Amino acid sequence: MPQSELFRGTAHQGPDPSDARARAEWLRDELNRHAHAYYVLDNPSIPDAEYDALFAELQRLEAAYPELRSPDSPTQRVGGAPLPEFSQVQHDVPMLSINNGFSDEDIENFDRRVREGLSSKGQISYACELKFDGLAINLRYVHGVLVQAATRGDGTTGEDVTANIRTVRSIPLKLQTNNPPALIDVRGEVLMFKTDFARLNQRQREAGQKEFANPRNAAAGSLRQLDARITAQRHLRFFAYGIGRLESAEFPLRHSALLDWYRTLGIPVCDERAVVNGAGGLLNFFADIGRRRAQLPYEIDGVVYKVDSVTQQQTLGFVSRAPRFALAHKFPAEEATTTVLDIGVQVGRTGALTPVARLSPVSVGGVTVTNATLHNEDEVRRKDVRIGDQVIVRRAGDVIPEVVAVVPERRPQDAREFVMPANCPVCASPIVRPEEEAVARCSGGWIKCPAQRKGGLLHFVSRRAMDIEGLGEQLVEQLVDRGLVTTPADFYKLGLVMLAELDRMAEKSAQNVLNALEKSKSTTLARFIYALGIRHVGESTAKSLARHFGTLDALLEASEEQILAVDDIGPVVAQSIRGFLADPLNRELIEQLRAAGIHWEENEPERRNQTLAGKTFVLTGTLPTLKRDEAASMIEVAGGKVAGSVSKKTSYLVAGDDAGSKLAKAQELGVTIIDETELLKLLEP
Ligand code: IVH
Repeated sequence: MPQSELFRGTAHQGPDPSDARARAEWLRDELNRHAHAYYVLDNPSIPDAEYDALFAELQRLEAAYPELRSPDSPTQRVGGAPLPEFSQVQHDVPMLSINNGFSDEDIENFDRRVREGLSSKGQISYACELKFDGLAINLRYVHGVLVQAATRGDGTTGEDVTANIRTVRSIPLKLQTNNPPALIDVRGEVLMFKTDFARLNQRQREAGQKEFANPRNAAAGSLRQLDARITAQRHLRFFAYGIGRLESAEFPLRHSALLDWYRTLGIPVCDERAVVNGAGGLLNFFADIGRRRAQLPYEIDGVVYKVDSVTQQQTLGFVSRAPRFALAHKFPAEEATTTVLDIGVQVGRTGALTPVARLSPVSVGGVTVTNATLHNEDEVRRKDVRIGDQVIVRRAGDVIPEVVAVVPERRPQDAREFVMPANCPVCASPIVRPEEEAVARCSGGWIKCPAQRKGGLLHFVSRRAMDIEGLGEQLVEQLVDRGLVTTPADFYKLGLVMLAELDRMAEKSAQNVLNALEKSKSTTLARFIYALGIRHVGESTAKSLARHFGTLDALLEASEEQILAVDDIGPVVAQSIRGFLADPLNRELIEQLRAAGIHWEENEPERRNQTLAGKTFVLTGTLPTLKRDEAASMIEVAGGKVAGSVSKKTSYLVAGDDAGSKLAKAQELGVTIIDETELLKLLEP
């Protein structure tokens, strides 16, 4: 459905602007409704620009009539002046902690204790939810209006973070009900989604500021800001999972019903929850979430089980500071602290040197880790990792273990800084690092550097490339070390006797390798392009190239500009492809591979849609998401032209923030002015 249709009928309506009070109230309700749709339901109900227009109108009204301002107005989300310090808040009902369990046995024992405590013969009904890795918060609504937000603190006394919480857009400033409780303390977790965390760290990096170690630290650091304007930029989220004081309303009888009620009030509640029976049900929930953990958009450190019936909860009561009716089932820790014994470098197939921390062995999430990547030289400096340091190592899912941060207070006096070697540790060729690049490389190339050769050959035979089964790391290593294989074309010249003589090989396994090589000759153009190992050409770029050009010869003949016209290919990638294909050695390799019998079905080149043919664009100001040259190349790919100045021939002016004289000129000449969203719509095929 086109966006315009999606949003039809929601434009400016409501009371007449001459009745300021009614108009302001209507605007507030509209904005709250749309914000809820956007931030809580993830289902926008109007375009951003329209939301902004309504918002601006309300701001103008409130500026003109300050008496119309109310604490629940969406305009009050933007933080005011910095606070001198946080004031303290006493929790009326203490914010408790929760006991932890790790093994199946811990869970079975928990369930048994619950059944014993309730003298129950049947299965217990449990509400299962996620254990969010953020920080606990209490939100107080009086007559449906958010009046105070406090951190958990020590459980009895927390910090008043109301101004900051007001900037969290998924938290309603006003509950969605005509009949709110006189007072309700909503409890839950403030957290930062993984993508928001990555973006924040990127911004911190670009601004030369300290990066956060994980989303939880980032959430805590963002909330505990004396200047709420900083919190406002951080994109925090909230999920409710509990309740404190409640006045003049009935407590729901089940925990699951409490969360359902919250939903109707417009309070965000996570969808990943279930009501299950008995210990078996709990373990199934844990296993299911464990499998999907990496795909969740936020970090969790386990799941939480709560006896669903509130009456049963009350019967069970509390031991010291934790309820008997709840248990956190934690995942094994994904982070551990250990010592950096040394920092070495690994040479990749493109010659890229990756610094690797050699660690004193440590168990992380159930696996022993002895190496962790430090990505590149700048990263080593940024994190200031030195040999001898104690570091936090992280291993999440299938991701390569990495060094997250140093524990500075544990740095020994003789800790040594890492120095990037001047020569390749494998082939001794000089290491080069172009000014503008983060990566240092061995200059030896395929011919001189066995590490690059092995890496490139392993890439060629890998599953997603030519998919040659049986050609594993050890075999490729032997073939390279004995000088039997230098380029991928040499694989196809191997004979049975030669192969069978290698270590750990026999006639049968040698024949299998030959069969796999034979089978690999019938492939696709995309796989073949990917297998060549051109820098910056991953699987999806290889597919785009194959689709766009249809035949290998068309790609071989293509100019840099023609390559640039392929979907998702920018100048750096286009240059790398063109550079690779222009190299006579690479041409020869390609011809040898074709001569060896590698083939695929060739296709017609894709007909590009030229939706913007004949149209001229001028770009001005800062666009919200696209860089100026990105927008320009997207327009050109779609057949449009990009000009530097506005004239009568200009079809569209694309204006971003702080647009200046070009905007004025376009207005004067009556040129159509559009924003980024509208440009993207024009670019749709
Ligand atoms: S319930 C009476 N539910 O874990 C029980 N806590 O150790 C009160 N947490 O400080 C807590 N997700 O920050 C509960 N679904 C969840 C949770 C959760 C995360 C955190 C919370 C609390 C700590 C308890």
